[in-house]
Amino acid sequence: MIPSLGQIPAIRNFARLFGRAPMQPSARQFLLDLIPADSVGAEIGVHKGDFSAELLAQVRPRELHLIDPWQHETSDIYRDAWYGGKASAGQLEMDERYQQTCDRFEEEMDDGRVIVHRGYSDEVLAGFSDDYFDWVYIDGNHLYEFVRQDLLLSLQKVRPGGMITGDDYTEGGWWEGGVKLAVDEFVREAPVELMALENRQFALRVKG
Ligand SMILES: C[S@@+](CC[C@H](N)C(=O)[O-])C[C@H]1O[C@@H](n2cnc3c(N)ncnc32)[C@H](O)[C@@H]1O
Repeated sequence: MIPSLGQIPAIRNFARLFGRAPMQPSARQFLLDLIPADSVGAEIGVHKGDFSAELLAQVRPRELHLIDPWQHETSDIYRDAWYGGKASAGQLEMDERYQQTCDRFEEEMDDGRVIVHRGYSDEVLAGFSDDYFDWVYIDGNHLYEFVRQDLLLSLQKVRPGGMITGDDYTEGGWWEGGVKLAVDEFVREAPVELMALENRQFALRVKG
């Protein structure tokens, strides 16, 4: 496997010597290396498209579906969420993020590589035929019930042998460990095999 530049110690030391901030290898690099090129995938929870850009550049998927409602949540439980209390301008800010994401991927949307779905993951995923995806990356609503629903729907929509992956597999957070709880339960009960747990990321293989 070819390391990224930031992973090569000599290059990191050179950057430090000349006063540049050291390049941090992405915590999600191992995941990007696991996802096959020319695949059909979905990112659930897009925010401003930063990870979408990494997926596009490194995985080079055939189709990348970006799913996010860009909806401001006003309930108190979301006070520390990027789409709740941390979006100080409320819905205006969410509309702006949506527009910025569309502008950012305008070229890829034009050539059909990126498809943006503005909607909640359960509603959007339900619209795909079973086994449609080679992989999904779950990074939407982190509360237990929502993650559980994303996992169950992904199991239906990802082909046997494909991957269900996601972010923030950790204790705590404003979501009170909901991702970890749901993933642990899912691994115990669903026909999936645990591939990796690293840097708060999870990767599961759907059994054939
Ligand atoms: C942590 S951010 C995603 C970050 C992005 N994956 C990245 O790494 O750059 C969470 C996103 O999930 C979205 N979201 C919240 N509830 C959702 C749902 N039910 N379905 C899909 N996305 C949701 C929010 O609007 C927010 O943009």
